[in-house]
Amino acid sequence: MKRRILVVDDDAAIVEVLEMRLTTMGFDVTATVDFQTAVTAVEAGRFDVALLDLRMEPADGIALMEAVHARQPRLPVLIMTAHGTIETAVTAVQRGAFDYLTKPFLRDELRAKIVRALTSRRWARDRERLLAVGQTLASSGIMARVLDAVAQGAVETTEAERCVVFQQDHGRLVPMASVGSTPPSWSSLETAAAAAMAKGLPVTFPGREGAAIVAAPLVAQRGPAGAVVIETAPGIEPTDDDLELLALFSSQAAVAVRNTHELERLRSGALAALGRMATEVAHELKNPLAGLRLYARHLEARLGRNGDADGAGLAQKITATVDHLATVVQEITAFGRPPELHRVPTAIHALLDECLAFAQAKCQAPGVEVVRAYDAACPDVLLDPRELRKAFLNLVLNGLEALTAGGRLTVTTAYTADTRTVTTTIEDTGAGMSEETLSRMFDLFFTTKPQGTGLGMALARSVIDLHAGALSIDSTPGQGTRVTVRLPIEPATGDGAHA
Ligand SMILES: Nc1ncnc2c1ncn2[C@@H]1O[C@H](COP(=O)(O)OP(=O)(O)OP(=O)(O)O)[C@@H](O)[C@H]1O
Ligand SMILES: [Mg+2]
Repeated sequence: MKRRILVVDDDAAIVEVLEMRLTTMGFDVTATVDFQTAVTAVEAGRFDVALLDLRMEPADGIALMEAVHARQPRLPVLIMTAHGTIETAVTAVQRGAFDYLTKPFLRDELRAKIVRALTSRRWARDRERLLAVGQTLASSGIMARVLDAVAQGAVETTEAERCVVFQQDHGRLVPMASVGSTPPSWSSLETAAAAAMAKGLPVTFPGREGAAIVAAPLVAQRGPAGAVVIETAPGIEPTDDDLELLALFSSQAAVAVRNTHELERLRSGALAALGRMATEVAHELKNPLAGLRLYARHLEARLGRNGDADGAGLAQKITATVDHLATVVQEITAFGRPPELHRVPTAIHALLDECLAFAQAKCQAPGVEVVRAYDAACPDVLLDPRELRKAFLNLVLNGLEALTAGGRLTVTTAYTADTRTVTTTIEDTGAGMSEETLSRMFDLFFTTKPQGTGLGMALARSVIDLHAGALSIDSTPGQGTRVTVRLPIEPATGDGAHA
């Protein structure tokens, strides 16, 4: 594709000479003596470089440069000036020109400066942007954030209107992150993503109203795992540079996605190892604890009989502490050996009410409002109520524990008939979670609470996973947290129901 150059000078002779020379050099030249014609040309299509005369009547080259930059912000502009006005030329550079050219032009200088404007400017700014994007990608270990950064980075590096990152999930392309205005058509973006993945290379499709859609595959270890798709503004055709940039960018993004996957895998591997160790330790602790409890009970009874109330009180504290330890140990043991599910048709609202009542009793939070918004259309769900009670109870408790007076906990259910799922959301207006808490809340023993054991979320996730459900968290520090639990109303065939 030929590079497009805009030439504007109020001297018709200069315009003619430049047009001839630049055409010979292989450029696609638009040359004019008129300010308005130049502006209209920039509105109609993108240029790669502009040569503007500094002294023009009635408006000068700087005013024209500003009008041009309002329409195409990063177009490199070379200001042309006669000898003796270097100072003004320097001002032009300070106001956003890439460089200046002194008249009369030396052939080599003209070519060299244009080539430099075309290449170095682009790469200087792209390098900066890619570096910034790379740092964002490297700094997060959470997949959703990495994909957001990918979309954001793609929009910034290519100046596109919007970007959507698709990921392949069970043979289906799922939009995972979207930045910019809402796409007029998701299906055309999806088609482009599929084409890029099939080809393994960036592809371009015509978009609406002369816009263009460019998709680049996200290549993971075992072939394409998704695609980064951008859509340009109407009338903007992506250049070869844009394609190259997007390819470069998507390969960088693919590395980030891969690292994040790896990190998640390591985390869960470490978690499993930790779980096994915890189970063994718990097992070793169980019997001595039971003994200790028995001795403390005996002691308490004996001291009571002998009229030593203080002693009996102390012994009772030992029993209570041992009881607490025994509960923790029991939870760890349960976690280490995922239970077999005993599914029975369960009224999910009654189950939630039970958890709410229990949680409110357990965590007295005065001045906290609890709101229920249940979908009457929810059918009974085939699930293990004992296991799920533990999961919901922890989620509700976490919500209440995050609240201070004046806060609100909202529990909502919704039935989606076509996917046969019940979605429960537990939303609090509480403290929210920091980035570090968000990335570690499922880790065994991770807690920010003085009395917490840090088992609740790990347990909730394992129970919901066992039910082939999905658990997701949205949290903003200082604003609150929304936990969404999606459960199929019955196990998929072959999912082993133990009714
Ligand atoms: N709704 C929430 N709002 C704010 N932070 C939360 C919320 N839910 C979980 N967390 C954070 O996640 C951490 C881990 O939660 P988890 O339920 O696993 O353990 P815990 O509540 O600290 O202890 P426990 O084992 O007793 O439940 C909490 O300590 C808290 O920092
Ligand atoms: Mg908890």
